[in-house]
Amino acid sequence: MTSPKSIRVFAPATVANVACGFDVLGFAIHGLGDYVTARFSDVSGLGIESITGDDGRLPLEASKNTAGLAAMALLKRAGFKGEKGIQLAIEKNMPLGSGLGSSAASSAAAVVAVNELLGRPFSVDDLLPFAVEGEMAASGTAHADNVAAALFGGFILVKTHNPPDVISLHTPPKLHCTIIHPSIEIQTRNSRMILKKEVPLEKAVTQWANLGALVAGLYTEDYDLIGRSLHDEIIEPVRSILIPGFDEMKKAALDAGALGCSISGSGPSLFALSTSKDEAEAAGRNMGKILEKIGLEYHIHVSEINTTGAHVVDA
Ligand code: HSE
Repeated sequence: MTSPKSIRVFAPATVANVACGFDVLGFAIHGLGDYVTARFSDVSGLGIESITGDDGRLPLEASKNTAGLAAMALLKRAGFKGEKGIQLAIEKNMPLGSGLGSSAASSAAAVVAVNELLGRPFSVDDLLPFAVEGEMAASGTAHADNVAAALFGGFILVKTHNPPDVISLHTPPKLHCTIIHPSIEIQTRNSRMILKKEVPLEKAVTQWANLGALVAGLYTEDYDLIGRSLHDEIIEPVRSILIPGFDEMKKAALDAGALGCSISGSGPSLFALSTSKDEAEAAGRNMGKILEKIGLEYHIHVSEINTTGAHVVDA
């Protein structure tokens, strides 16, 4: 017998890497993200009945879709073999290929929705490896910084994703994030391919010093220390060449009073962190002027840090 019950879940957009924490650090923001609705159906297996907000670009075939793959991983582990099937409806509410964790938001929302529909066989912590399966499909490698931030909210540090060992870090209350999204697209898969596979020891030392200092700054709410730690010696110099006006935009954000600025995830969006909404908006305006000079369209988004993460919005 089928149940009419359906569960709609929102999962937020996320900023991964946060300058010095490539693949291990991330945080969630408000206002952008994806909705996934899961419902039982008479058609057996997992299907995707609709995707909106993607201009028809994402595959409806569950085994090729990040949310579908994440949900299938969960169903397999749950031993779900019922006569009933499950249908997902995905609502994209953020740009694709923007560096804001679009695939992660769909994967995180899908696993939370299906877990709820099945009566919560897994704890939220246990959902991470399933969501990572979706990320793998999108980027070719398993990394959990976006999905963990989308699932849990706030600042997260991924120690390992399988078995899940994610540390929820403290979120200092004054932090505001500015996102500038230039209207170009960068696929994570491609921007990972250009990275160097080896890191000089000197740069590695600087990077892990910054990462440790940033985590300390978050816990002690030392905004100055956070600013001094938001540097990326390893990834940003390679990827920033893909983003027109990157150096000028970063300078413009810092000139406006931002604590720090770097690439959001694999780009092309940049993020800046500031200690007030006014400063965050000023950083956005300053960065926008650079793209206007270049003649590139853009969107600015200002948000506090989202400490909630993925959650049920309708059941
Ligand atoms: N940490 C990942 C990367 C995030 O930078 O490739 C991708 O969104």
